[in-house]
Amino acid sequence: MKPAKAIATPNIALIKYWGNRNDELRLPMADSLSMTIDHPSVEISIEPSDSFSVRSWNSEGKEKQLGKDDIARFARVIDLADNYLSGLAGKELLPSEISIEVRSHIPPKIGLASSAAVFCCLAEALAASVTDEFPLDAVQKSVIARIGSGSAARSVHGGFVALKAGEGSSLASSYAEQIADEHHWALHDIILVPSHDEKKVGSTEGHALAHTSPLYAKRIEAIRNYRQRDCIDAILKRDFEKLRFIAEEDCLDMHEVMRTSTPSLEYLTEDTHRIIADVERLRTREHLPVLYTMDAGPTVHLFCTDESRDRILDYANAQTSCTVFETVVGPGSSVLS
Ligand code: DP6
Repeated sequence: MKPAKAIATPNIALIKYWGNRNDELRLPMADSLSMTIDHPSVEISIEPSDSFSVRSWNSEGKEKQLGKDDIARFARVIDLADNYLSGLAGKELLPSEISIEVRSHIPPKIGLASSAAVFCCLAEALAASVTDEFPLDAVQKSVIARIGSGSAARSVHGGFVALKAGEGSSLASSYAEQIADEHHWALHDIILVPSHDEKKVGSTEGHALAHTSPLYAKRIEAIRNYRQRDCIDAILKRDFEKLRFIAEEDCLDMHEVMRTSTPSLEYLTEDTHRIIADVERLRTREHLPVLYTMDAGPTVHLFCTDESRDRILDYANAQTSCTVFETVVGPGSSVLS
């Protein structure tokens, strides 16, 4: 293993990943689909060391004190990645101890999936560190990223990406595949952050509750029967209206599953609902290609085309109580020299 450094960005799902068939290995129940965004990024450096360590710096350059659980999550990725890589290569590739340094440019508490970028970046750095002995392809990197965070698997690729749920209980049975690259369709994601409050229940705990909702089985069937396929089709044909219909149906369905779980998870706030209503009015009045989607928090992602971008950005900037970020479709993780 040689020292290595990588960079990765978050991705935003249009068909949401919610619930696992195996929580330990983060093997999802159903496929999901996302767009990788161009920024903000995370950089990770790794190198062989005398003892395992993880240090992390936030977007202001301040060192962040990591908790025991955070460190354990990194340690588990390294352990499982070590097993996976030795299985692939037929020999040990990683040293017994590694030091990891994480530098995030993602502002804290904005509801952007920093874990997706972080664990994708770690997988990219691990792959780079062993590439002379055993070069990994993007699918293999996505398996390692998924161990740390399910959605991280998708950030390995640029553009539009499917996370295939797969079947069975092997670590490599679920992986991410690119549907179309970042040059295929210039979609923007204008992000409105209504609240800087830390989310109450994180995604990892939330996934474990998905099965308690009476609506969950129907959700999984819908994704398996038509939603994932229709979403891929809409992207390949650049059919915004079709994409809007499927993505909003899937997002609202996931939030209904969350709300009807035991205990109930309510991530959307009054601000979220107000923004959704505004956007619905705006597009009816002005016939704008724009769709909304929300993850496990009140942040609203407004996907739009070049044509509607200026108008949506004007709307977003007029929301004085919100922080606004503008992103576009991006290229996926890569190695830094
Ligand atoms: C609602 O990938 O954040 O954003 O694997 O526990 O890290 P962990 O969960 P995570 O779950 C993402 C949930 C979601 C939907 C999505 O991104 O597909």
